[in-house]
Amino acid sequence: MADGTSETKSSNQMWGGRFASGPDAIMEEINASIGFDKKLYAQDIRGSIAHATMLAHQGIISADDKDKIVHGLNTILSEIESGQFEFSRRLEDIHMNVEARLATLIGPAAGRLHTARSRNDQVALDFRLWVKEELQKTDTALTALIAAFLDRAEEHADTVMPGFTHLQTAQPVTFGHHCMAYVEMFGRDRSRVRHAIEHMDESPIGAAALAGTGFPIDRHMTAAALGFRGPTRNSIDTVSDRDFALEFLSIAAIAATHLSRLAEEIVIWSTPQFGFIRLSDAFSTGSSIMPQKKNPDAAELVRAKTGRVNGSLIALLTVMKGLPLAYSKDMQEDKEQVFDAAESLELAIAAMTGMVRDMTIRVDRMKAAAGSGYSTATDLADWLVREAGLPFRDAHHATGHAVALAEERGCELAELALDDLKAINPAITEKVYDVLTVEASVASRTSFGGTAPENVRRQIAWWRERN
Ligand code: ARG
Repeated sequence: MADGTSETKSSNQMWGGRFASGPDAIMEEINASIGFDKKLYAQDIRGSIAHATMLAHQGIISADDKDKIVHGLNTILSEIESGQFEFSRRLEDIHMNVEARLATLIGPAAGRLHTARSRNDQVALDFRLWVKEELQKTDTALTALIAAFLDRAEEHADTVMPGFTHLQTAQPVTFGHHCMAYVEMFGRDRSRVRHAIEHMDESPIGAAALAGTGFPIDRHMTAAALGFRGPTRNSIDTVSDRDFALEFLSIAAIAATHLSRLAEEIVIWSTPQFGFIRLSDAFSTGSSIMPQKKNPDAAELVRAKTGRVNGSLIALLTVMKGLPLAYSKDMQEDKEQVFDAAESLELAIAAMTGMVRDMTIRVDRMKAAAGSGYSTATDLADWLVREAGLPFRDAHHATGHAVALAEERGCELAELALDDLKAINPAITEKVYDVLTVEASVASRTSFGGTAPENVRRQIAWWRERN
């Protein structure tokens, strides 16, 4: 209750021994995380089952109590999943909501579950498990996006388009090559995701509050049961570490930045002025007033989601930057940032995969644009170096004259008469026209990583083996 009156003054059932009364309503409101950390229910229950099983195996609790605990936890899992569970803000967070319900279901045995652990290692575990699963989902989503690009690249390995620098026509490239640039970007994102899974693949449970525990627990056993490579090595670091969340957010921010650049290109390409692509009806919207319009809303929203994801990264970095070791309640502010960024990223990747798969490539428009803006000027200069033995700087100069002349005549380079070209440099022959077409230009770029269609096909094959 925001008016400052306490809903109830009864003291907390988890630590009531030290407390005469319950929290003020405002205290409860600022303190509670159940509104968002209920998302961690499955991880919390999995963690508790692994912990209780280990406690019994080590003779710390009886097998009978363990059975009651595991049975009770499974009941709670189905109550939550069927929507019957009543979450209570007075119980602060998911950990205490589950434990309190367990006490109602199984009685005193429930009180033994929290032996040799703390909410500090418990939340570190739950959140790590959640982020790990999210990273695995991101891996799958990126794989689908890369697959969509590989298909489009294959289809358009020979389709010429203008390549840009400064968004000014630079040299002709193929659309397939352009697609493969995004494959490289999303491929790097995916490898960052896989490295992050490696980094975080250690189990926090058993670090307890911060110092470890005197109970003879087996942290290797819980780590194995929860699918981790092993346990974390330092109990203080374990409960104060949120690198796994920060790493997820940084990876998400970089991936969102890639998505945003692609979104920007889609917005530009789909304008009538560029007309390089047509978005499918499924991934565009109309205007309520202008009947001719087809708007790239999905691309715009993907571009905008980047702002949220970047914001989440900065928010959590800022939360963490001044915290003394080990746990501080500030760290409770980690989850919403990660949840929001994860939702935005998942949606953005899915929307982009749909757009890439469905968009129509307007080959004629791309080809016409590829030849305009003197895009083969470098080919002319290279020809003068190769065939006439000019130093590149002189060839560049001569080509500059040819471009100026073409501009004056209002024509393309290939439309200049041989006599005009000879006047610029007498070594120029009829053969020069072979390199002035966009097709010849792209076909000639056979250097490793270059835009020649044969190279692009090789790149596609290389990626297909790795996707
Ligand atoms: N809800 C808390 C969080 O998200 C759980 C850990 C609470 N630990 C504590 N010592 N109060 O961080």
